[in-house]
Amino acid sequence: MATSPLELPQLVQQHKDSAAAHILQGRPEQALADFRKVLELDPKDTVARLRVAELLVQTGLRQDAVREYQQLAFLYAAVGQTLQAIASCKIILAIDPSHQATLENLANLCAKQSHREHSDTGAQARASTPLFSELPRDVFIALLGVLKMHRVRGGERIITEGERGTSMFILVQGTVRVVHTPDNGPERTLAELGEGAFFGEMGLMSDAPRVASVVATRDCTLLEVTREALDRLGGRYPEIELVMQRFYKDRMLDNLVRSNPLFQPLSAEEKQFLIERFETRGVEAGTVLLQQGQRSQAFYLLLRGRCAVVHEDPKGGERPYPDMTEGAIFGEISLMLDLRVTATVRALTPCVLLMLDPETFRERVLPNPGVRRMLMRITRERLDRTTALLAEGAEVQDFFLL
Ligand code: CMP
Repeated sequence: MATSPLELPQLVQQHKDSAAAHILQGRPEQALADFRKVLELDPKDTVARLRVAELLVQTGLRQDAVREYQQLAFLYAAVGQTLQAIASCKIILAIDPSHQATLENLANLCAKQSHREHSDTGAQARASTPLFSELPRDVFIALLGVLKMHRVRGGERIITEGERGTSMFILVQGTVRVVHTPDNGPERTLAELGEGAFFGEMGLMSDAPRVASVVATRDCTLLEVTREALDRLGGRYPEIELVMQRFYKDRMLDNLVRSNPLFQPLSAEEKQFLIERFETRGVEAGTVLLQQGQRSQAFYLLLRGRCAVVHEDPKGGERPYPDMTEGAIFGEISLMLDLRVTATVRALTPCVLLMLDPETFRERVLPNPGVRRMLMRITRERLDRTTALLAEGAEVQDFFLL
């Protein structure tokens, strides 16, 4: 007897509930039977098909599982869920690496994707999977070949702040929280990210330690792009590097503006211009960033970490200034006045710095009246501190603080 449309949702739900109970009681075959019933009632139910595919793998029916994952890939692609489609294809390849049909599927998915980009819904597709929707078809396929898939449980840490890491992650399913713990304060949430978002691009694009931790807030499926894989592809497909650079710079801009009010008076265009010129540098504890008596090679912003600032007197003694913490800037006075620096700045912890070349600093940062006012205030405070230090007996020298 045919099921009336009104009964359908209830029947589907009954089978799903029953399947969930079987899973809890360790009866995968019965759960599989229930999910198959759901698919008979609603063949487009991707959640039920995913469960069927997973249970087929669990019960050893690998070739049947491959067929289900293929169906899933097409269903996801048809509704624009490209990342899920890719993940399904990656699972097929993991089950059966020689699966030729999968590569064909991938190519078709890409073709659909690039077609969608040119349609009215393109903007939406781009917003949900920014990285993939910006790449041309052949580049997209090349990248797919090197992506690694991972599953993590809610609560697991995916990236740890301060560690070195050279890969980036794309969130296929689930949600994550990006958190940062300043050296002198409680943990702060920088962002909550969902499907289609990516993270870890800063570690991938620069050699700097991770600037934040990323924790799964629900079970997640992730695709990982490693530096090694990018290097292998980069030469042939410079587009990949370019797209990554753009995302990387956008995040950097967000961090720059958050970390120091100095940049707020700048217009959006000016900030964008600067971000193209800022370079990220990661340094180990102990690295000397500014050496007393020398000229500063750059304007620095301390994005993460802590630095010691010391005045070295000619007799070999050192007098400390307060440490530089996150958001601190240095190198600005000597650049403004073209003088040598009067203090040595040394990393106390591993640090992440943003560096701007002297010319850009003088030509694009200094002329802004709001920025100039703030810099003058900082300069005055720092000079007062130097004066006080010198009044205590340190030898006066002919160059300026920082
Ligand atoms: P990475 O430093 O490699 O590792 C931590 C990641 O957190 C970082 O790359 C970014 O991907 C992400 N992240 C850092 N700052 C922000 C931010 N302000 N908003 C969103 N994500 C961020």
